[in-house]
Amino acid sequence: MSKKAYPPKLAGRRKIYIRTFGCQMNEHDSLRVKELLLGNGYDLVDKEENADVLLFNTCSVRKSAEDRVFGVVSSLKGLKIKHPEIIFGIMGCMDEAQGKDIFEHMKHVDFLCGPGDLDKIPEIIDKVRRGARHLVYIGGHRSKRIPRFSENRDIVESLYVKIMEGCDNFCSYCVVPYLRGRERSRPSKEILEEIRHLLSKGVKKITLLGQNVNSYGSGLKENITFPEFLRKIDKVAAGKAEVTFVTSHPKDASLELFKAIRDCKSLSKQLHLPLQSGSDKILKRMNRGYTLARYKRLLKSFRRIVKNGPIVSDFIVGFPGETKKDFNDTLKSVKNIRFASAYIFKYSERPFTKASKFKDNVSKKEKERRHTLLLETQRRISRRKKCQ
Ligand code: 5AD
Ligand code: SF4
Repeated sequence: MSKKAYPPKLAGRRKIYIRTFGCQMNEHDSLRVKELLLGNGYDLVDKEENADVLLFNTCSVRKSAEDRVFGVVSSLKGLKIKHPEIIFGIMGCMDEAQGKDIFEHMKHVDFLCGPGDLDKIPEIIDKVRRGARHLVYIGGHRSKRIPRFSENRDIVESLYVKIMEGCDNFCSYCVVPYLRGRERSRPSKEILEEIRHLLSKGVKKITLLGQNVNSYGSGLKENITFPEFLRKIDKVAAGKAEVTFVTSHPKDASLELFKAIRDCKSLSKQLHLPLQSGSDKILKRMNRGYTLARYKRLLKSFRRIVKNGPIVSDFIVGFPGETKKDFNDTLKSVKNIRFASAYIFKYSERPFTKASKFKDNVSKKEKERRHTLLLETQRRISRRKKCQ
């Protein structure tokens, strides 16, 4: 690219590039920011070198996700040196986890914007264009606000609808409550409006998002539970789209929820219900609030009420204090519950969390071994289940 050719489009609409790391919540947030910027005179481009503004939506749930962001953003430093007018912004959870320390490692970044402030992105970019540098917009989640975007969405192929934000569960390994703040739900009327709009544009699959969807409604002025809300959504979506939701916490999953899944035509019959470990000792240290026996009873009810509903789980191996016996309990639970699929992670120590104070006594090599073993075991089960 010649220097003369750059920046190629500043005369017309400005060009924005967004790369997303991490979960569906981040995918959703990036789409909303894209929509916002489309309405503010930007076009989207899919190559870094064609953009005037580069945004990276980041994840902090495991250290490996943060390392990936550092790797990618650092590798683009040359672009900023060659064309200082390009704006680099880091959005999302990493900003809340690390704050302005990010600038120490990546001086070429112009601004940080945490998940609670994403609706301010156009204003932040304008400030940077007028010469401001190293702006920090974090901590928005502490005010309990949910960034406000229009309910009339432009990128209608997007499948996500955020119904709540934050988490009050404080699982001892998890950094999310510290980065996305305490639980708060969006009013049901506002969400239904958004869903109606998406349906009118022909969207065929909608995923309702929340860190802990089962406690949807708590703290709202209206009196509504998650299963009641699902039934309302079904009245709008039945026959038009398939609706799924993530993520459910076993301690809040109820028979009412399973009945709603059974009764609502639009609802997918799949349930994502992370077990995390098959050892009661580890579940307690994780602060999960249930035992393996209680989880199994729950699944029994689910399988009785929602006949062929596939169940998907998450697991963490190598949690501090996890002995070979604890791990074997997890292995055993995977073999006898027979999940349709599972996401399996190696424990990663995270700032602020209670577990970061526990002694991480499982070696890297042993974490690797347990990860591979559990992954292979689950893969064999998933393959066989598909053939059944
Ligand atoms: N280390 C490893 N995995 C984690 N998860 C959350 N925090 C950590 C951590 N510190 C996993 C959990 C969760 C999923 C989204 O990520 O399994 O369900
Ligand atoms: Fe993290 Fe637990 Fe909340 Fe999930 S339920 S976001 S694992 S604290």
